[in-house]
Parts: sequence; structure tokens; C-alpha cells
Amino acid sequence: MLVHDHDVLTSHVEHISALMFGLTGRQFAPEAMRDQLLQQLELLRDQMLEHFGFEEEAAFPFLVEKVPGHAQAVRALMQAHDRIGRSLTETVELVTLTNRDTFSLQVSPVAESFERFVNNYRSHVREEAEVLTAMEAELSQSQRDALSEIAKGLV
Ligand SMILES: [Fe+2]
Ligand SMILES: [Fe+2]
Repeated sequence: MLVHDHDVLTSHVEHISALMFGLTGRQFAPEAMRDQLLQQLELLRDQMLEHFGFEEEAAFPFLVEKVPGHAQAVRALMQAHDRIGRSLTETVELVTLTNRDTFSLQVSPVAESFERFVNNYRSHVREEAEVLTAMEAELSQSQRDALSEIAKGLV
């Protein structure tokens, strides 16, 4: 795909999923993992919001201007950004409300909240790949080159 891929974000999501799996399976002590988990979640949230911001401010407007027939599908992608952002922010807030002593009581709700985020994220990655591939196929060569330049700014 010309616009971007999600490999860096997805590998970060998988890293945190592995931490969650270790916590829910009791392989990791919650009190020892809480601070690291929070740090990783905050970093992922920041990367994710930066990624969405770039798409919404640079890549999507360019594509919608050149290929306006897909504007409705692009609006749906932006609505998914809101859902993903809300679910990840909820996970971060749930961990923030704990401390090293109380985190063990909140592992299940935190893991469930993160799973909701992961499901939203994964379906978005699939939908976005389909929409952007279809839009890119309708671009001229010079428009593709311009889009590649724009995409260099993407996380
Ligand atoms: Fe994306
Ligand atoms: Fe996106």
C-alpha cells in the first residue's frame, strides 16, 4: 500500500497483549508489572493518536479530494478512529486509577477493556487497507507520487 502500513503500531499492540496475557495468566506479578504496563499503554495511545491525526489531516483530505467517490468510506474510517481512541483511553484510565498495591484487583477489567480496543483496532486495520487500496488504484501516477511524499510524515 502506498499510504502506509500498520506494522509498528501492530507490533506494539502485540507486545502489550503479551503483557496482558502474562498478567491474566498469573505468570507476572501485577504489582511488579503495573508501572511498565501503564508506560507502554500511554506510549501506544500517543503513537495511535499521532497516526490518526496524520491520516485525518494529511492523507485522507488528499485522497478524498482526488477520489471523492469514497468520501463516505473515509468518514467511516474516521469514526473508527474515535472508537479506537476512546477504548484505548479507557484502558489507560483504568490503570491510572490504580496503584501498585491495588492493581491486582483490576487486572480483569483492564484486560477486558484492552481486548475491546484490540478488536476495534484489528477491524479498522482491515477496513482501512481495503478502502485505501481501492482509492489508490484510482490515482494517476503523479498523484501517487504526491501521496508517497505526504506519507513520509506518517508514524
Ligand atoms: Fe492507519
Ligand atoms: Fe486509520
